[in-house]
Amino acid sequence: MKILFYMPHADAAAWLHDFTRALPEAELREWQTGDTEPADFAVVWRPPREMLAGRDNLRAIFNLGAGVDAILALEHEQPGTLPRNAPLIRLEDTGMAPQMAEYVTHAVLRYMRRFDEYQTLQSERRWHVLDAHPRETFTVGVLGMGVLGAHVAQALAAFGMPVRGYSRSARQIDGITTFAGAAEFDAFLDGVKVLVNLLPHTPDTGDVLNQRTFSKLAKGAYLINVARGGHLVEPDLLEALASGQLAAATLDVFREEPLPPDHPFWQEPRITITPHMSALTLREESVTQVAQKMAAIMRGETVSGVVDIERGY
Ligand code: NAP
Ligand code: GLV
Repeated sequence: MKILFYMPHADAAAWLHDFTRALPEAELREWQTGDTEPADFAVVWRPPREMLAGRDNLRAIFNLGAGVDAILALEHEQPGTLPRNAPLIRLEDTGMAPQMAEYVTHAVLRYMRRFDEYQTLQSERRWHVLDAHPRETFTVGVLGMGVLGAHVAQALAAFGMPVRGYSRSARQIDGITTFAGAAEFDAFLDGVKVLVNLLPHTPDTGDVLNQRTFSKLAKGAYLINVARGGHLVEPDLLEALASGQLAAATLDVFREEPLPPDHPFWQEPRITITPHMSALTLREESVTQVAQKMAAIMRGETVSGVVDIERGY
């Protein structure tokens, strides 16, 4: 079994070492420009077009992340980039779900318990108890009820606030009030106090965090975007903060990453910025999952996590 690896900025030697340990019979190599030698599998994150185009003998392409928007954008820009017949398989959880739950829960509780405001009071040396946000009306709406969204929603529900979930197809998840499809979108948004975005970035979901969406939320709502920057209409967020429709936002992802130094978000104290770190790809867990799926494919079995290219996730 021949495996091609490409992940910019990663410790390639460590990844190749772990793959060799998981699949001792495999031949592994890091892809270099000009390498057109045959391979059975490609393991990639944001690969260049020339790595994959024309590799019609690949058995599968493994994407070292949950989101496949970047690799599908290559195919969209230059159809034929992704070899025909090789399924594109994304990571499923591999330790990202607990990381997402930690990140989002932290942000939601920070808003619910008004820690930002206490920080301001502390800077003014003021001892003052603020009225708490009532838990019963501090409704959290999670966009996307997939591997990550469902886990995050259940982690939040454990704190006792009402939690809603939104997906494309109908889902039943213990403790979560679920909504599905465009027809139920407004009902999902109605009165939500914290909107968490965990949708994949597809042609259907781009720009979903916009003025219209914000206008349906409770006055003074909070936004947490941990999915993709392309979901957010940035000027609409600044306007919603200026009008008071939104009280604050926590953003982990941006249209341009790294966020440029002159971007207005850096100047807005109500926006909390993190550098796309809410759920990192963990090497050990990812190698284990990918290696197990490769072995299953070699045995002729079907595996989960195969991307529907038309749907975009
Ligand atoms: P997933 O399992 O594929 O779940 C996607 C969810 O979104 C599903 O519930 C799906 O509905 C729903 N959905 C898709 N299109 C929709 C539409 N048009 N309308 C309504 N719902 C729609 O994905 P995941 O593993 O949870 O990951 C979600 C995203 O998180 C990734 O795509 C990635 O962009 C982002 N992410 C970010 C980080 C980070 O560090 N910031 C890390 C990992 C992932 P169905 O249930 O009906 O299919
Ligand atoms: C990270 O953003 C991922 O999609 O895994």
